[in-house]
Amino acid sequence: MFITRKAEFSASHLCRIPELSEAENRRFFGDGANPNGHGHNYIVEVTVEGEPDEVTGMVMDLKTLKDILEEEVVGPMDHRFLNREVPPFDRVIPTTENVAQEIWRRLEPRVSSASTKLAKVRLFETDDLYVDVVRGADPAWLR
Ligand code: NI
Repeated sequence: MFITRKAEFSASHLCRIPELSEAENRRFFGDGANPNGHGHNYIVEVTVEGEPDEVTGMVMDLKTLKDILEEEVVGPMDHRFLNREVPPFDRVIPTTENVAQEIWRRLEPRVSSASTKLAKVRLFETDDLYVDVVRGADPAWLR
């Protein structure tokens, strides 16, 4: 079974490659390259896979999952300027893809156990844009 917990955080970011010209950055990232940054209300959905425990009937204690999300994602990222305040985004461009990847990195060791696995991290940057990081793809970029 898969259980999903959702959390929200608001953060600022900007997307630019320092080695590139202003025009090239605008071409890649549009207004997102503006050095002043801009904000998003991010929504993260974390899905854990496992079998319900025979005694408790739960895959995982949802309060525990909420606490882990708070400690690893919401606490460190809410009301932060990601590029300036949240490593590794001082050197990694905080695109939706890279923020989702970082959330996966932070949660995976906390959520995985003998009976549970992190199955998916879905990160919404806006209502109509989200990125999924899914277990099993085992891509080089997760290492
Ligand atoms: Ni943005």
